[in-house]
Amino acid sequence: MSESLLDVRALPKDEAYALVHANIAQLLHDNTDVVTSMATVSAVLHHGFGFLWTGFYRVVNETLLRVGPYQGTVGCLEIAIGRGVCGTAAAERRTVIVPDVAHFPGHIACDARARSEIVVPVYDTHGALVAVLDVDSDRVNAFDERDREGLEAVVTWFARPERAVVSQQAVSQK
Ligand code: SME
Repeated sequence: MSESLLDVRALPKDEAYALVHANIAQLLHDNTDVVTSMATVSAVLHHGFGFLWTGFYRVVNETLLRVGPYQGTVGCLEIAIGRGVCGTAAAERRTVIVPDVAHFPGHIACDARARSEIVVPVYDTHGALVAVLDVDSDRVNAFDERDREGLEAVVTWFARPERAVVSQQAVSQK
């Protein structure tokens, strides 16, 4: 399964994200499980780009995020919506790029080596915010508009129409 060994660190970002997209599509083409998808996306991004921490914080309710599938050192278990980079991205429903975490008031340091960060909102097929994708680097200024575009495109996976079908099945089986 050579696809799982994808390493795009030496490539220009546009090319890197194209390969990552193709890898994720190949791995998840017949998968409709959200947790499986989050775990697989985390692993592909983390090892593909060599990030410090890569994973999801799920929306629990209107005030709380709770950690989901991730790769890296132990993450904070819960983050209040509105707090830190993740909570800000969730509250404002927008991608937040932090070039230097030392200059982001309220940054939550789960791993002291983190120097820069990008957090991308994740929506389901109905447009509801279900999570944020959080990616940390041990370098300052690691993320730019190409990362925003690349990662925002990755999380559109969670808005695919098949997800709605799975939700309806889960409800109808209760
Ligand atoms: N730095 C994040 C917290 C999550 S950890 O980085 C995994 C924040 O400020 O929201």
